[in-house]
This record gives sequence, C-alpha cells and structure tokens, in this order.
Amino acid sequence: MKKIYVTGGLALQGSVRTSGSKNASLALLPAALLGLGETVLENVPHIGDIRTMEQLLNAIGVRVRLLPNGRMHVDASRIETTDAPYDLVKKMRASFCIAGPILARLGRTRVPLPGGCDIGTRAVDFHIKGMEALGAEVRIEHGYVEARANRLRGTNILLDSPSVGATGHILTMACLAEGTTTIQNAAEEPEVVDLANFVNAMGGVVRGAGTSVIEIEGVSSLRGTTHRVIPDRMEAGSFLCAAAATGGDVRVTECIPEHLTALVLKLREAGIECETGPDWIRVIGNGRPRAVSVKTLPYPGFPTDMQQPLTALLTTAVGTSVVTETIYERRFKHVDELRQMGADIKQEGQSVIINGVERLTGARVTASDLRAGAALIIAGLMAHGTTEIAGVEHIERGYEDIAAKFTQLGATIGCFEEGEGAAHARACR
Ligand code: EPZ
Repeated sequence: MKKIYVTGGLALQGSVRTSGSKNASLALLPAALLGLGETVLENVPHIGDIRTMEQLLNAIGVRVRLLPNGRMHVDASRIETTDAPYDLVKKMRASFCIAGPILARLGRTRVPLPGGCDIGTRAVDFHIKGMEALGAEVRIEHGYVEARANRLRGTNILLDSPSVGATGHILTMACLAEGTTTIQNAAEEPEVVDLANFVNAMGGVVRGAGTSVIEIEGVSSLRGTTHRVIPDRMEAGSFLCAAAATGGDVRVTECIPEHLTALVLKLREAGIECETGPDWIRVIGNGRPRAVSVKTLPYPGFPTDMQQPLTALLTTAVGTSVVTETIYERRFKHVDELRQMGADIKQEGQSVIINGVERLTGARVTASDLRAGAALIIAGLMAHGTTEIAGVEHIERGYEDIAAKFTQLGATIGCFEEGEGAAHARACR
C-alpha cells in the first residue's frame, strides 16, 4: 500500500504552477455530452477523478482521450446507452451529473444514486427536483434514478440552498429545454461560471452565472467546442496554506487571485504577508500565525474545501482559533489525525476549537478525503520528524503530482510503498 512520507522543519521556497481545476473539469465533462461533435478541453489535470470520469464516458459509448499535455478530446456525437454504470457513479459523486445531459439529449436516463462519503450524506434531492421542474418524469427505485422527458420545458427554479452541483446540473438540462429557465439562489462559484462560459461557447445562451440568478434560454442543439479549464483554486489555496505553515516564501502561479479572496484575507488576518499579481499569489510566512476564527460559506465566502488545510495551519497559531463548518456535517475526520501529531484541537458541534501549540510532531496518520489529506501533508511539513500518511488514493483523486510539486518547493516528501518509505524516512533523519 502506498503512503506519503513527509519530513518537516523546512520553510518552503520557490514557485509552483497551479493545475487545471478538478471541480470545473468534473462539471465540464458531463456538459460536453450536450455537444454534437468533438469538444477539446485544455488544462485538464491528470488526477484520479478525471480518470474515473473518462472511464464513465467511455462506458456510455462516448469517445474520450486525455493527452499528456492536458488536452482532453470528447466526441459525444453518439451516446450508445442511457444507463450509467453502477460502480463508477458510486465511486464518484460528480458522475451523477451525466444524467441531465443524457436526459436532455436522448429523452431518458438511468443513473445510480451517488454514494455518501466521509464528509457528509451528499444528497441529490435538489438535482432531482430540478429534473422534475423541467418536466421530466422521475422514478427512484432500487437505488437508481430513472428519468424520462420527450422535451424538457423551461421553468423557474428556486434552490433550497446554493448547491454547486445542482446549479450546474440544472444548467446543463435547461440549455436544451424548450423556453427559458431561471435558477434562483444559484451557486456563484467560479466553476459554475466556467461551465456557463463553456455552454455558451457550444452555442448556448446562459446569462448571470456568478450571481444568484442564472437565466438559460433553451436552444435546439449545441456543438462541440474548445475550452480551457480554469485553474484549481483549491490546489492553489492548499499550497498557500503550506507556505504560510512552514514560514516559507512561495509564489503560486497560473492561478486566478480573485477566486481566492476569502482565503487571502483570512491569511492576512492571521498576520501572514500575501502579495497578489495578475495570475499569481505570493505568501511570505513569518513565524507562528495569529489565531483566527472562520466559518465556511458558499462562494464568495470562505470555501469549505479550504477548511481542513487552514485548520492544519492554525494548529501552531498563537492563541485560540475557532473553525466552523456550515456546508458539510462530517468534514472533521482530520481532527483526530492532527491530535495524533500533538495538536490541541477538539470538535464541538459543527466547530473545532484549536489552541495553538509551539510545534507538531510527526506521526502515522490516515487521510479520509482529499482535503483532509492536504491538511495532513501541511501538518507534516510543519512537524518535527517524519509523518507517514495513509489514504494516498484520496489525495491523488484531486491533486496532480502533489509530492513532486512540494519537492520542487524544497520539501522532503515522497510517495512510497510502505516498506521503502520507512527506509526513506530513516534516511531523512
Ligand atoms: C462541490 O460539491 C465540490 N465538488 C465540493 O468539492 C465542494 O466542497 C462543494 O461543491 C461545495 O463547494 C465538485 O465540484 C466535484 P453542493 P457538490 O451540491 O456539488 C447539500 C472537493 O473537495 N446538498 O454545493 O456536491 C450537500 O449534502 C469537493 O473538491 C443537498 O442537500 O456540493 C452538501 O451538504 C468536496 N442536496 C451541501 O448541499 C442536493 O441535491 C453542498 O453541496 C445537493 C447538495
């Protein structure tokens, strides 16, 4: 079993390039099914979730290939089946969002309900309500969602909460519906904006993405196009937290600074120097940060995906920090692992209380999801000694070449099979 071994104590230095966004790519690929002809997505990251999506599209008869240079060719001229394979949808929640485009294109779809995961139940009731509002007949039985509609009809939809996935999924159905659809209380995340830009490049008519009201004028068909995926703001943010945590000096390049405003403001509040340029952010750590309090919120609020990396940083802050998670009910599996490393941290309801300590110490820990994995790498970079991280498969779902990128910044980190890793760790002492 592979593990990541990281030996702490070094301040990260240098610059690191941001990869294409996992979450934008996972929204764009189902939307590519809407287009007659070939779509080319550029800047697609080579990560586990993309490989899963590639398998899923292949399984329904769509020709897909991801080239080493990050260009992904998708030819959705023909979709051979309307049934999505059980194992792939269960493996990754984002797979569920192929249901809408198939329904919009072929008039029916049958997709398994996605599984939960270690951060929460991950319901899809808003997605299903959206299908029904657009005129589909939906049945849920034996763990599958089956939907039929000769032609979807535009309508007005008010989301109970600004769900990123439901906003994007409804958008990809409404763009081929008869008439106009309005989504109110829509998610405003940059990944939704990227999706709207992509659909418009395919010949769609989507207005208002990035605000809470999105209007979609249905068209009769869409064509393939070429589109560059936006940078991954969560990967960029993870590196910013790591730089701050090690007291380093790191420039994260090829990112979009305004996508990270909430994190940058919070780092500055913690006394960390942050400079921003047109497509880069530089963090200059300076000893232990100040304790801060933060609450995760929908965009443009502080992002839930940065809750765990920031928590790792705050374990050695001066003072007591409070981190409150409002998006997911169980996004705290990293807390026990950080405690193994000497953090003075405890969960109280939907918050964690962190009393900063001088130093963490390396330990054997396990990542339960990809952002918890990032948090444990950050903690390992701060700790005295070596940290052995299991659950690498979670991390590799969403971070491209993470060990290589941290090595480029001077970290002592590697991904090894268990035996050789221990030898590596001894060599680093
Ligand atoms: C997207 O998930 C991201 N994933 C998540 O990133 C991110 O944390 C989340 O948005 C919030 O920003 C992808 O884009 C692939 P939601 P999504 O629908 O779309 C509840 C990462 O680490 N909800 O906004 O699933 C849901 O249970 C991942 O990269 C319903 O109740 O998020 C959750 O509590 C983790 N019913 C909350 O809303 C629904 O029908 C937010 O979900 C849909 C959602």
